[in-house]
Amino acid sequence: MQLIDGFGRVHDYIRVSLVDKCNLRCTYCMPQHVRFLPQDHLMNNDELFEIIRIFVEVFGIRKIRFTGGEPLLRKDASSLIERIANLGTQLSITTNGLLLHDFLHLFKQVGLRSLNVSLDTLKEDRFIEITKRSGLSKVMENIRLALSQGFRVKVNVVAIREMNDDEIVDFIRLTEKEELHVRFIEFMPFDGNEWNWDKVLSYREILTMIEKKFAIQKLNDAFNSTGKAYRVLNFRGTFSVISTITEAFCSSCNRIRLTAEGKLRSCLFSRKETDLLGEYRSGGDIRPLIISSIQRKDEKLGGLPEFENEAAVKKVLSERAMVKIGG
Ligand code: 5AD
Ligand code: SF4
Repeated sequence: MQLIDGFGRVHDYIRVSLVDKCNLRCTYCMPQHVRFLPQDHLMNNDELFEIIRIFVEVFGIRKIRFTGGEPLLRKDASSLIERIANLGTQLSITTNGLLLHDFLHLFKQVGLRSLNVSLDTLKEDRFIEITKRSGLSKVMENIRLALSQGFRVKVNVVAIREMNDDEIVDFIRLTEKEELHVRFIEFMPFDGNEWNWDKVLSYREILTMIEKKFAIQKLNDAFNSTGKAYRVLNFRGTFSVISTITEAFCSSCNRIRLTAEGKLRSCLFSRKETDLLGEYRSGGDIRPLIISSIQRKDEKLGGLPEFENEAAVKKVLSERAMVKIGG
C-alpha cells in the first residue's frame, strides 16, 4: 500500500537520520544547549533496518536518504548502509563531507551514487566561524575526489544575509569547470538558531545577484523537486535555489522523516512526532502508527504560522532543532 495523506500526496521518499551527533557545530543547525542522546535511545542496527524494511516492503518507499547530524559518524554506518542497500531502493546521503573519503568505496559497491555535501563558505576563516571547527580543505578535497570517481555531487549552501551572501557568485563559479550542482537553501527557522526574517536571503535576491554576473538559463524541475534549477550558459555544472521560506513547495511533497531515535515526522516543520521505536520495542505493530501519522500531515509547513509573522513562528519552534531532525 502507498502512504497517501489527506491532500492526495503520495509519500515514497524517506529521510533517515542515522545519528544525532555531528563533528561540526554550525549554529544555524545546532542550538548551543543541544544534548546528544544516550546510545540506547537510538535505534540500533537491527531496529533501524527492520523499521526501514517495513517502509519499503509494506509502504512502497522508493528512495532513502541518510542524514544526521553527520550520518557517517555512526559507528556501524557501513554495515547499516550495506544492509539497507539490499532492500533495493534508490539511495542517497547528506553529509558534511569530512569523512567521505572513507566511504566512497562502499557507496560505489552498494550503488549509492548521489551525494549532498553541506558547505556554506569557500573561505577557511569563515568556515571556522560558521562550523567552529576547521576542515574546509578536507571537504573540498573530498568533493573533488567524489566527482573524479563519477559520483553526482550536490553542494548545499544555506544562504544567510551577512554570513555568506558575498559568496553566492563564488559558488556559481565552481560550476564552470566541474559537473557540480550547487543548491542555495533559504535560511529556515529552527529551535535556537536565531532565525529572523532579515537574515533570509530570498530566492529572488539570490537569482538577481547571479543574473548581474552571468547569463543563465532555466532548467526543468522534476515534480517532487524542492529546488528551482538553472545553468549558467556554457558552464558544465548547474545550480538551484530551494525557496522553502518565500515559495514553499508543500503541494508536491513526497517526503517523510525518521529521527535517529525512531520517531516519525510527517513534515520537517511538524510539531507532532510518532514514536515508532517505542512501539517496536514493546512488540507492537508500527504500521497503523505510520498510516495515521501520514493521514494527519498538515497541508503546509507542518501547520506553522506564516514566516512573515516572525514572533508567532519563533514561539512554536522549541524542540525542533535541525540537527535532531536531519533536514
Ligand atoms: N536552514 C536551511 N537549511 C539548513 N540546513 C541545516 N539547517 C538549516 C537551516 N536552518 C541544511 C544543512 C543540510 C541540509 C540537510 O539542511 O546544511 O545541507
Ligand atoms: Fe514537505 Fe513539510 Fe517540507 Fe512542506 S515543509 S515540503 S510539507 S516536509
